[in-house]
This record gives sequence, C-alpha cells and structure tokens, in this order.
Amino acid sequence: MSDRKLLVTDPASDQTLELPVVAGSEGDPTIDIAKLYPSLGYFTFDPGYGSTASCQSDITFIDGQQGILRYRGYPIEQLAENASFLEVAYLLLYGELPTSTQYAEFERDITYHTMVHEKINNFINGFHYDAHPMAILSGVVGSMAAFYHDKLDVKDPEQRELAAKRLIAKMPTIAAAAYRHHMGWPVAYPRNSLDYSERFLDMMFSVPAEQYTVNPVAAKALNLLFILHADHEQNASTSTVRLVGSTGANPYACVSAGLAALWGPAHGGANEAVLNMLNEIGDISKAGEFMARAKDKNDPFRLMGFGHRVYKNFDPRATIIRQACYEVLEELGQSDPLLDLAMELEKIALEDEYFVERKLYPNVDFYSGIIYKALGIPTSMFTAMFAIGRTVGWVSHWLEQSASAHRIGRPRQVYTGATAREYTSIDDRKPSA
Ligand code: SDX
Repeated sequence: MSDRKLLVTDPASDQTLELPVVAGSEGDPTIDIAKLYPSLGYFTFDPGYGSTASCQSDITFIDGQQGILRYRGYPIEQLAENASFLEVAYLLLYGELPTSTQYAEFERDITYHTMVHEKINNFINGFHYDAHPMAILSGVVGSMAAFYHDKLDVKDPEQRELAAKRLIAKMPTIAAAAYRHHMGWPVAYPRNSLDYSERFLDMMFSVPAEQYTVNPVAAKALNLLFILHADHEQNASTSTVRLVGSTGANPYACVSAGLAALWGPAHGGANEAVLNMLNEIGDISKAGEFMARAKDKNDPFRLMGFGHRVYKNFDPRATIIRQACYEVLEELGQSDPLLDLAMELEKIALEDEYFVERKLYPNVDFYSGIIYKALGIPTSMFTAMFAIGRTVGWVSHWLEQSASAHRIGRPRQVYTGATAREYTSIDDRKPSA
C-alpha cells in the first residue's frame, strides 16, 4: 500500500470514505475499492475492465503510453535479442534468469515431457480432417486431465510445477499433431536431440519418406516469436486462466479455457484475421476502401492487427516482428507482396486522423503472420502458434495465483432487467408487445 488516499463523498448521505491507493513497484496508482460497497453501498462499473486491476502480479509490466514491455523487469527487446525461449520460460515461471545448471535441468525436464499419451493421438484422429487447430487444441488440452489425473492436486506445489512443465512441453506436440491430422500425415514424435523450436518444426514438417533438416533461420524466427508471445500481463486469455484457476479447477481446464479465449479474432485470433484481411485487400489500390470500412461505425470490419487496450503507442513486439520479417524473408530468399501491402497499410493508417486520434498502432498480430507464412505454416495454425508461446504466460500466472491467498473471482453487475412481478397461469397470458 502507499500512504496516498482517495476521498470519496456520497452526496446522498454526505458520508466521506478514505480509499487506500495501492502502489506497485511500477505503473499507475490504483485505488483499493474493497471498502466502497460495505461502507457506502456502491459497486463500481467498468465493462471490459478498461480501468480495473484484477490482481497484483510480479510477472510482466506494460507501460502502454511508452510502449514498454518487460518480463520480470527485463526489457522485451533484450530478451528477444539474447535469450532462448526456454530461458524466458524459466524467467517467467521462477522470476529469475536461470544459471547454466538450472537451464540444463529445466531444458531436460521440458524435453522429457514432450511426448503425449498415445490415446491423445487417437483422440486427435477422431476430429474431422478440417477441424480448426484451435478446436483441437482446446479440446485435447482440456482432456489432459483425463490422462494425467495422477498429479492434479492444485494444493501441492510439486504437482503444480509438474503440470506447468507438462503443458509447456506438450503444447507444441499437440499443435503439430493437429496440423498433421489435417494433412493426413502420421504423427511425428518429438526428437529429444533438438531444441524447443527445432523440435516443433520437425514435428510439423518431417515426413517418414525422407530425412528432414531443420532450417536454422526458421528455428531462430520461431524462438523469437515464442518469446514475444510468451506473456502480456492480464490480457483476456490470461485473465480467463486466472478466473478459472480461482475456482480450484485443474491446470488443464484452466489452459483449455485460455485457449478458447485466445481464439477470438479480437485477441489471439487476430493474426489469422490479419492474413485473411491482407489477402482480401490484395492490392494497395484497394486499401482506401478497407480503411473507409474500418472507420465506418455501421461496418463491423476493423483493421485487424491494429489497436490495443493498453498500448496507445507502438506495441514493442510489432516493432521487433516488423524488422524480423525483412531479415527472415531475406535469409530464406523469399519476398512477400503481403509484407509490402502491410507496410503501406501501416503508413496510411498512421497518417489517418481516425487512427491517430484513437492512438491505433500496429499490434503483435499485424506482422507475425508474414513470418509464419514464410516458414510454411498455414494461416489456420497462426493462433495455435500464439498459444504455444502464451502457454508459458498462462501457467506462470496460474502458478503465481495458486501459490498465493486468493478468492474466487466473482464480478457483480448492474441489473437492468424486469423488476419483481407475479407468476401468471398460461391461460391468462397475453403475447408481450
Ligand atoms: C492481442 O490484451 C492484450 O494484451 C492482448 C494481446 C496479448 O498479447 O495478449 O496484446 C494480443 O489480442 C492484440 C490485439 C489483437 N486484436 C486485433 O488486432 C483486432 C483489431 N483490434 C480491435 O478489435 C481493438 O483494437 C482491440 C480489441 C484490440 C482493443 O479494443 P478496445 O480496447 O476495447 O478498444 P475499442 O474497441 O474501445 O476501440 C476504441 C476506438 C473505437 O472507436 P470509437 O468508438 O472510439 O469511435 O477505436 C476503434 C473503435 O471502433 N478501433 C478500431 C480498431 N481498434 C479500435 N477501428 C478500426 N480498426 C481497429 N482495429
């Protein structure tokens, strides 16, 4: 708590209440309103939680005005430049960068949990060939409670840590199996001799007919994208994981709920929507038409990959990914007219009063699909790629909440429905107007 207070006076009762201000180690001051209802009988109303902090957390800090993102205090730019994804996973889970011994042990733990129960592969085979990968992921991850029920005591720290490692290790395996099911290929089992990103590419693209060699450029690009997607404080899917976790539900149920939330096009589904939008626009000559639609309140179309609840400046991840697009395409000897189109769209939007006034900048989803596409990953898999990185954030927040005293999440509402009225028999009822 800080020693700052906020005074609230109720004109109806002329009562004044002192509300304490909660000061974090960084970020905006926050009013603790817990006493408001018991003392003055008022709830607060904040649809979409635009001005509401749901918890205290040590994991990730975002400054939306400055475009700052830090994992456990480390700037995202430095982690993106220097770290491996599993190093960042360790940092998010445990709060410190690992020593070489800690890293080796953690990497070994993850590596030896990458396989899934063979009946999970049977489960995946039960889906229709054109099932969306996120439908498979959310279904299969929820079912993991049926396969790993031996270690589901959420009150036991060791079992919580094991579940977290299992989820981080197995998410790529399940995602790759979903893709191969769609392709009609047999499952490719994880190869322990490869690192996290290499192993995923091998599970995605290797075929029994010939030796598969991982392209180091692709592995490096995935390592970067997994790091950039790993966590983002209390976004919709992480808040979902925390809310489900607050009921004491098992971690697989929590992450399955997080997957469902991420899938929405306003959230993690946006990367898939951006590529579909760029393909629909097709040529920069049609950009004006789509920009007009994005600004038309009567048109549900939005410029996908633009805008953010927190960032009112550049999303630092978008800046990093935009640069990586050029590097990856050049190193792969590819060009992509969609990147040129995206850059033109960004330029037009950033000079347009509607976007400038609303501080709408490119977000993490605007450019990521360009890289996934260059790696041969189909658009339908883009949100699953986001999920692989974000699983680390989800389980880190679940562990943080599970290890601390917390109450079940249960928001209130402003009731706007019918006031009290008497039941009438069916014979006496008349159709309502
Ligand atoms: C992610 O929360 C996180 O941290 C999420 C994330 C993470 O890492 O977990 O960063 C990942 O989800 C990134 C966001 C991906 N989604 C998209 O790119 C979809 C397109 N963006 C919008 O749907 C929207 O910008 C949101 C959902 C991202 C943010 O929604 P908000 O904060 O509720 O903002 P809003 O809808 O209130 O918009 C404010 C104004 C509105 O206009 P007015 O009513 O004030 O006139 O800006 C307009 C909106 O209509 N607006 C857009 C727009 N985004 C906002 N207009 C056109 N195109 C857009 N993309």
